[in-house]
Amino acid sequence: MIFSITARRLISYDSSRSDGKLWKQFDAFLQGLLAFPLYVPGTAFYKCMQGRKNVMKILQEMLNERKKETHRESVDFIDLLINDMKEKNTIMNEKIALDLLFLLLFAGFETTSSGITAALKFLADDPKALQELIVIHEALRLANIAPLMFRKAIEEVHIKGYTLPKGSKIMVNPSSIHLDPTVYKDPTVFNPWRWKDTTEPAGGSSKEFMAFGGGLRLCVGADFAKLQMAIFLHCLVTKYRWK
Ligand code: HEM
Repeated sequence: MIFSITARRLISYDSSRSDGKLWKQFDAFLQGLLAFPLYVPGTAFYKCMQGRKNVMKILQEMLNERKKETHRESVDFIDLLINDMKEKNTIMNEKIALDLLFLLLFAGFETTSSGITAALKFLADDPKALQELIVIHEALRLANIAPLMFRKAIEEVHIKGYTLPKGSKIMVNPSSIHLDPTVYKDPTVFNPWRWKDTTEPAGGSSKEFMAFGGGLRLCVGADFAKLQMAIFLHCLVTKYRWK
């Protein structure tokens, strides 16, 4: 469902008319994403690399076709990219456009679908929470969908008595905050009500909540992801009996 919605907005993908090829290749990419990097036919990593290559090929074909079109009714992300490429003094080119399409297909799908899965798992364990669906932040805090973020120190950094030399690669681990008992009481307990009195603006991030990262690279899809999760949960509890 999430792939279809996201891909429809990005590339006018119609899952009911598709032959499933795009999804198949994309899924091959996802399956090997964290696999041991052994580039030999048959390994998950090899299939992942092939999946990426094939998805890029499909996207390239779509872009070529689209560039030939003179008139289109609806506008999707490919159209916006093509318009960008036509601008004077633009940094947009075909390579960046294809990379962006791939990135957004990935970022828009894998994250939100894992978030929904986590919310369902925690809801299953606590049916009371179904009555008050303030669950999305809590599910994301506990599940830590994006377990790591990477940064590079562009200058020497001094922090809490430590010195990080210029050029250091830094791995930020949000779960060390999200599961810190001095920040969240009983941090391993699924307790959506803990968010009831929060003053934090919806969609925001803070030093205590960084499921969507923070600062300059704050997730651009945070509100979109939460909207989709909320719609999914709304349909689930209003249209289905679920246990
Ligand atoms: C539950 C769902 C999601 C979670 C937990 C999540 C998490 C994150 C995190 C932690 C970052 C920061 C990475 C860093 O600082 O290195 C990030 C960045 C990003 N996210 Fe998401 N994301 C979600 C959904 C989405 C969706 C739906 C989209 C697009 C449709 C999206 C697009 C992006 C993009 C493009 C960036 C990079 C922003 C930049 O570097 O300026 N994400 N996301």
